[in-house]
Amino acid sequence: MNKKMTITSIQKAKGVRPLVMITAYDALFASLLEESSDMILVGDSLNMSFAGKSDTLSATMDQMLYHTNAVCMGAQNSFIICDMPFGTYTNKKDALKNAIRVFQETSADCVKIEGGEDKASIVKHLTDNGIAVCGHIGLLPQSVRGEGGYKVKGKTADEQLQLIEDARAIEDAGAFCIVIEGVKAEVATEIANCVNVPVIGIGAGNGVDGQVLVFSDMLGLFEAFTPKFVKKYIDGASLVKEAVKNYSDEVQSREFPQDIHTY
Ligand code: KIV
Repeated sequence: MNKKMTITSIQKAKGVRPLVMITAYDALFASLLEESSDMILVGDSLNMSFAGKSDTLSATMDQMLYHTNAVCMGAQNSFIICDMPFGTYTNKKDALKNAIRVFQETSADCVKIEGGEDKASIVKHLTDNGIAVCGHIGLLPQSVRGEGGYKVKGKTADEQLQLIEDARAIEDAGAFCIVIEGVKAEVATEIANCVNVPVIGIGAGNGVDGQVLVFSDMLGLFEAFTPKFVKKYIDGASLVKEAVKNYSDEVQSREFPQDIHTY
């Protein structure tokens, strides 16, 4: 995917081809991932897979800006999404102030915020002020402590109706795209059919307009736990451990460095 996507080309892809989103947290991986993805998300999941925390809640604005800058440097041909961390968009004023930092201090193309109908006024305030917004509905990782765990959504009729309301409300508020996480597949498909903007799923089945995965999950690098929706495309952890073990063995046996590695 050579040409950098724009909000317009992302929206035009709906109904034409599935969109590919993947997370990245640094320039090195971003440069490796950009060739085969449409959008790169600097997710606050970096707090878990990069910073070793048990959830995303302690990620800060400064951390997100640092990592977003690194990703922007590594993937200059990619449409880049910066996740707004927990507590940085609880009211319109803070949301705009923090989103402006993203646009002024990085070259990210948009921000992502978690929440549906309850966050529609914030989404509208941001989009009214020139900030492109990707929504995020369904299972909201930033609500994990408030809800007492990660809960798959869309299991009851009430939840299904609420999810449809959520998607419509943030679309009406100006979100150009919506991530839907941890939702029963048939409900996610219905939501994708209810709105005109692309709906990108994670743990939401195959009937939506695209997929997103956390890169360290799909490369098999993150070992702490594996959610049901993750497919590991390589066993990265084993490959890395084996490579480092070989290096360690060769250093100890003086097999490395050889003449070709020596000045
Ligand atoms: O932070 C993140 O990586 C995300 C994805 C799970 C969509 O929000």
